[in-house]
Amino acid sequence: MEKIFYNKTAIITGAGTGIGFEIAKQLAAQGAAVILNDLDAGLAKKAAQTIAAVGGKVLPMGGDASDLSFLQNLVDEAVARFGHLDIAVANAGITTYGDFFEYTPEQFQQLVAVNLQGSFFLAQFAARQMKAQGMGGRILFMSSVTGHQSHRHLATYGMTKAGLEQLARGLVAELAPLQITVNAVAPGATLTERTTGDADYAETWKKITPTGRAATVQDIAHAALFLLSPLAGQITGQTLVVDGGWTAVSPQPG
Ligand SMILES: NC(=O)c1ccc[n+]([C@@H]2O[C@H](COP(=O)([O-])OP(=O)(O)OC[C@H]3O[C@@H](n4cnc5c(N)ncnc54)[C@H](O)[C@@H]3O)[C@@H](O)[C@H]2O)c1
Repeated sequence: MEKIFYNKTAIITGAGTGIGFEIAKQLAAQGAAVILNDLDAGLAKKAAQTIAAVGGKVLPMGGDASDLSFLQNLVDEAVARFGHLDIAVANAGITTYGDFFEYTPEQFQQLVAVNLQGSFFLAQFAARQMKAQGMGGRILFMSSVTGHQSHRHLATYGMTKAGLEQLARGLVAELAPLQITVNAVAPGATLTERTTGDADYAETWKKITPTGRAATVQDIAHAALFLLSPLAGQITGQTLVVDGGWTAVSPQPG
């Protein structure tokens, strides 16, 4: 049977580890050629080798996903190597915790540069290429449940994620007639190399998540792959929350 992403080319940013790496791995396993970006070039190379070792077609590209000329390079390289671009996943995002009263302009600008500017311009450069190809496409933003609720010291991060969800909705009017869908995935607490650095993380989220556990990177990648697949051609402007029910409940009495 033909693989779901056979003959598709995908770019994914911030994919040297964590959620992005898992999405890249699953896309490659389903036949996609993947341009795998990470700020850490060595990590991107290592991640690409891991995927290539099990038969995936993958090209590592180290560089900063908030840098506009680098984002254009990603698109150009995808087309030069694989002939076309079908999927862009703006996964790179940074999380800076900060007390609102102390949050600095430098922190604010760095966060907005990676989370919003990088995602916006990857979408723009990818969509221009998809429009020129005339064969539709898929754009996916990586949001977070912090874009839906109040989280102590994460107001600025949550603001960028809520912005991405509105961007997905906002682009529908221009991109849907071109058969380019644009959606977001909003993970709740997810076990990654970064979050499991906190020894209590898994235990804490086990107690307060309705399903009784934090998400795995596989949980998030499965949602992403659905939205990127031909099965989701009529779904656009939406955010799929993957949080084990955490945002569906408020603190309960008793
Ligand atoms: N892990 C979670 O619990 C969680 C929850 C909700 C949302 N998210 C979102 O999911 C996405 C991935 O999160 P994660 O926890 O897997 O990532 P992470 O923090 O582990 O980082 C993944 C990779 O991104 C790279 N990166 C950072 N800045 C970059 C840049 N400017 N350009 C290119 N690469 C860069 C890092 O080098 C790292 O290898 C992010 O957008 C994050 O906000 C994560």
